[in-house]
Amino acid sequence: MTTTPVRLPEHLIHPFAPAGRANPHPAYRWLRANDPVHYDAASRLWLVTAHADCATVLRDPRFSAAQGQRERARDDALPPSMLTTDPPDHHRLRAPGALLLGPAAVRPLGVHLAADVDALLDRLPTDRPVDAVADLGRPLATAVYARLFGLPAEQLQRFEALARAASVNLDPMVPPARAALGRSAAGALTHYLDGHTTRALLEGLRVPLTALAADDRLSRAEMLGVLNLAVIGGWQPLAESIGNALHLLLPDRPAVARLAQADEDAARLAVDELLRLEAPIPFTARVTTERVELRGGELPPGARVLAVLTAANRDPDVFTDPDALRLDRNPNPHLGFGGGPHFCLAAPLVRQTAALLLPRLVGRFPALRGPAGAPDWDQCLVPRRLRALPIDLGGEL
Ligand code: HEM
Repeated sequence: MTTTPVRLPEHLIHPFAPAGRANPHPAYRWLRANDPVHYDAASRLWLVTAHADCATVLRDPRFSAAQGQRERARDDALPPSMLTTDPPDHHRLRAPGALLLGPAAVRPLGVHLAADVDALLDRLPTDRPVDAVADLGRPLATAVYARLFGLPAEQLQRFEALARAASVNLDPMVPPARAALGRSAAGALTHYLDGHTTRALLEGLRVPLTALAADDRLSRAEMLGVLNLAVIGGWQPLAESIGNALHLLLPDRPAVARLAQADEDAARLAVDELLRLEAPIPFTARVTTERVELRGGELPPGARVLAVLTAANRDPDVFTDPDALRLDRNPNPHLGFGGGPHFCLAAPLVRQTAALLLPRLVGRFPALRGPAGAPDWDQCLVPRRLRALPIDLGGEL
């Protein structure tokens, strides 16, 4: 175990400090190289930054997600969920979730989502600059949930407002007053989803939500927990992944041109590479149930650990030229979707959705450009997100 706490050198800003949030990568690079299992005295968290060690944190049963996510779950405000449960209970809660988010549930949505993407691009404003966050990412994410849940058009605004407000629960470091708002928003979201599920079943809607709701392996509260987690854990990361991706992609004109011509497989590789470089969920929490020896150092029992996915995703031991965007990187064992038993249940849906949007967008607007100057990163830590990304469509093909 490290006896003398290691400190970041003076010229590097702590990634959680307000000034360090815009570009945490230099600090994470230093930690990965110099103190890959780092005790951060300010937050009293252990930051694990190397890929091999992060993979262990995610997969090894000596790291408890139930204990690690407890703070984020904020007491009893959220219903029970697979994310806050360890195996074997975890499997019982997760298995039925495949009815909502598994490949067989989401593949048939592809044709509808393609139509939604085309309609979204048709509706892009021409009288003002387009904001990739507000005009693309958010409506796309809402369209995805409309298909998953069978939401009627007249309720999309309400759903989106609830999803945005409840997403505060994703960030473990928001100030207490905002956390309280997030708690009550999560309650309102559950109430809404409960009423919507009852209506959807009565109307006989055939959507992934009703397939899950009709399954008897989960209690009503547990089923609502899955829906709630899908919204709180997914709506904002999905919405924000679009701005993050375009911020990386647009300056690289050859990459834009290649993506415009990409088939589905190539587009999915591109999506993974974009998620590797700017993961919307930059880290996730666990607690050790006993002493654990990682490659980069030792952890005591009861250690509050962050697997820093965003640092692991740029580990030069695993990724050649790790800070470069290579749309055809394959294999790409990034940890942007996590790993092990809690691997993102919606990864197929996220890949499918972004792979529909990005080639269509740059194919239709080949001169599309991002803003000059520094990106406008939001202060929140989870998800990593841009406040806005004004883009110039530059004329339709
Ligand atoms: C770009 C978008 C997304 C990213 C980067 C992402 C990332 C992640 C990560 C890193 C985890 C693992 C957390 C942990 O191990 O502690 C996770 C879990 C999960 N994600 Fe996603 N996610 C995204 C979108 C979504 C969406 C759209 C949904 C639902 C519609 C969703 C549903 C879930 C669920 C249910 C889990 C928990 C799985 C479990 O505990 O077994 N995610 N996601």
